[in-house]
Amino acid sequence: MNRSAQTTEPWRVGVLFSRTGFMSVIEETQLRGTLIAIDEINDRGGINGRPLEAIIYDPGSDTRSYGHLAKRLMVEDGVSTIFGCYTSSSRKAVLPVVERLNGLLWYPTLYEGFEFSPNVIYTGATPNQNSLQLCSLLMKLYGTRFFFIGSDYIYPRESNRIMREMVGKSGGSVVGERYVRLGASRLEFAPIMQEIKRVQPDVVFSTVVGDATTYLYQAYSDMGLDPKVMPIASLTTSEAEIAAMGHDVGEGHLTAAPYFQGIGNTLNSAFVGRYQKRYGSDAPTNMCLEASYFQVNVFARTLERANSLETPKLRAMVMGSEFEAPQGNVSINPNWGHADLWSRVGRANRGGQFDILFESRTTVKADPYLIGYGRSVSYV
Ligand code: ACM
Repeated sequence: MNRSAQTTEPWRVGVLFSRTGFMSVIEETQLRGTLIAIDEINDRGGINGRPLEAIIYDPGSDTRSYGHLAKRLMVEDGVSTIFGCYTSSSRKAVLPVVERLNGLLWYPTLYEGFEFSPNVIYTGATPNQNSLQLCSLLMKLYGTRFFFIGSDYIYPRESNRIMREMVGKSGGSVVGERYVRLGASRLEFAPIMQEIKRVQPDVVFSTVVGDATTYLYQAYSDMGLDPKVMPIASLTTSEAEIAAMGHDVGEGHLTAAPYFQGIGNTLNSAFVGRYQKRYGSDAPTNMCLEASYFQVNVFARTLERANSLETPKLRAMVMGSEFEAPQGNVSINPNWGHADLWSRVGRANRGGQFDILFESRTTVKADPYLIGYGRSVSYV
């Protein structure tokens, strides 16, 4: 008899999200999404009779710690599957570890694309699933002159490179591009707001992340700039950041994401209900939490079939798999190991939720290298 079928030993997995430091506002929600999924799976009896056990470390928003802790998980704790990372710099720190030791990182955050690793499953949006749709809507609703402001690391620099190309191809222009430190203070935004007021773009495209998001939107509001005529548009400002900055500060600004709390389907309503029962009725869900939740479920279904945590087996079996997620049906694209996701653009309202302005007709296939861009491929 197969010994692995007899054991009730837990399946041990690693979890790396920051509960402290300037990334904790969003990463704490990714941790919660991961843990809710794990608890629900365990409540249903685990996987093939074995519970999931999470070994959780807090990298404290320090990029290098993600790499060190990933190594600890794999070498000392004997874990091969890791759920984690928000920033692309933290993913880049974990990448050589999982590649060298043949682990599998499940990465639930939108990012700049142009990466492929056999040791990563990417479940957040790539630019063809958020930037393209956002760019075209902004052009239609607000105008063609874009000002870029970002945190200074790989995701904002690369996203802006891509957005610059998209804006240019659509006949628009970039009238300013500024960066602040990751973990920037409120004061650092004041001179940039002065510049925005002077330049008067039609749109501010923000790739600012973490606590600095609050400072950006507050500085914008303090400057008396009006989101009705010149909104901040983002790929990262979710319900979590809006709650942190204050609903009145966030109102009127736009975000592109596969998921918003307010999307109307019964599966999502039930998901939001379960989340709020556990974390409080005023705790919003968001795109990064949702991806964290659904990727654990995709993993669990794959593990059920593979009955093994070996990376090559899991990876081979996860390709092409589908899951009915709160955002709608999603799948893991076998070409890329990235998720085919819904594309939506929302405008924040007074209640801290997003009113949906655009929704794709179906999932948008992951195209991390923008191979279809400029050809006949439709991204809507
Ligand atoms: C990000 O750094 N991928 C948001």
